[in-house]
Amino acid sequence: MNKLIAAIGLTLIAAGAARAAGNVDAGKALTEKYACFSCHGKDFNTPIDPSYPKLAGQHRDYLEHALKAYKRGDGANGRNNAIMTGQVKPLSDQDIKDVAAYLHSLPTSLATHR
Ligand code: HEC
Repeated sequence: MNKLIAAIGLTLIAAGAARAAGNVDAGKALTEKYACFSCHGKDFNTPIDPSYPKLAGQHRDYLEHALKAYKRGDGANGRNNAIMTGQVKPLSDQDIKDVAAYLHSLPTSLATHR
């Protein structure tokens, strides 16, 4: 019985952690809803213009930071970009976490070792 309670407790903790870290499936749905791939490429590795960033496999915390910076706009630690400022408008903090988790989960061409 104690083991069962411990298992339930661990499951709840894991579920909470997953939500705090972002949900990959929810993030995928959001990138489809807002058509992020139309610029960043359907695999998020082949942007439509070489000046657009590749996002697949990028660090989750970096992606979150970048998306929040576009939301901040001109303020401290903000980013001001004519294109992305409009893109992040509808995203909540949880949406940003979910999107970051999804993009991070994708196969990447970023260097992981040198
Ligand atoms: C109309 C084209 C377009 C669309 C649609 C678009 N982006 Fe972007 N995205 C860009 C461009 C251009 C940049 C580079 C902006 C800059 O220089 O700050 C960028 C930058 C980013 C960055 C920062 C990357 C980095 O390395 O700093 C993230 C994260 C990002 N986009 C995520 C998204 C997400 C999530 C969506 C969908 C909600 C989306 N983008 C939709 C064009 C687009």
